[in-house]
Amino acid sequence: MTDLFAAARALVEPSKGLLAADESTPTAAKRLAAYGIASSPELRRQFRDLFLSMEGVERYLSGVILYEETFAQKGSDGKLFPDSLEARGIAPGIKVDEGTEPFPGSAEELITKGLVGLPERLAAFKKGGAVFTKWRAVIRIEGDALPTAAAVLENAKRLASYAKEAQVAGLVPIVEPEVLLAGKHSRARSQAVIQETLATLFSALAAQGVDLGGLLLKTAMARSGDASAHKDASEEVAAATLEALVASVPREVAGIVFLSGGESPDEATANLAAITREARRVEAPWPLTFSYARALQEEALALWKGKAENVEAARAAFRARLEKVQAALVSSP
Ligand code: 13P
Repeated sequence: MTDLFAAARALVEPSKGLLAADESTPTAAKRLAAYGIASSPELRRQFRDLFLSMEGVERYLSGVILYEETFAQKGSDGKLFPDSLEARGIAPGIKVDEGTEPFPGSAEELITKGLVGLPERLAAFKKGGAVFTKWRAVIRIEGDALPTAAAVLENAKRLASYAKEAQVAGLVPIVEPEVLLAGKHSRARSQAVIQETLATLFSALAAQGVDLGGLLLKTAMARSGDASAHKDASEEVAAATLEALVASVPREVAGIVFLSGGESPDEATANLAAITREARRVEAPWPLTFSYARALQEEALALWKGKAENVEAARAAFRARLEKVQAALVSSP
């Protein structure tokens, strides 16, 4: 367990964060299509290489979450991506859930699958050099009707079973119950749903005997839905987010990382800066950092367009965003 503790702590070392480069094949195709880029195994390899092989990326990233296709591909240095990351001091991680399925108890809600055969897959990824893993559940807010307690509970139980298996396999689990930004809900509703979801999750983790010192939480920020008329200030997001976390996350948890969830790169950066300031003010017990996919990659993808001649400009945009996000971790009032 001491190895797991050290690995979990290293992922949240000061002024570094995670890149979530674990879009599934259909999601990667959607992200690429948004910029007119076709999707194929080779183009997805180039998409990953754009970010993972950037010179000096280890100054900003403690870890990268990979998808299984990428885990078995090679970067422009001729090394398998996990080996290449490891050689530069970046921990390779792997998404191990297998996406969602409709929840039988409530047709409009989704439950994450992937527990069947999980121990074997975890062992194979560990052998391939993975240090940590991720499992994502999605929680949708719809007025007061959704989420249902039953869907939150079922997702929490599966997250906890996964986390236990990951620790048994010697891999750090990142549990990600993503409360979605989509919707008309208020910031207060988002805060309440995050708090309730996390309370349910931490009960399930305790029931499974998961060691919280060797686990990271990945969460959304508490904020008004993207279809709400209200535009939150970063300070409001930060206060609501910290209130939800302080009320529901045990202090033993090794660290908390945030997803960007569809926030623009600037919004995700400004909100992270406000959250780190608020965390210092309330003396939050856990290290906090980013684990963004879209907010780190969007600007670079728009420039890259799938063309070798644009790689340099795209990487410059990626580096500029990493600089800003890193600065957000140490910003003062
Ligand atoms: P976004 O930052 O794009 O929300 O992605 C993070 C992630 O890992 C979602 O599962």
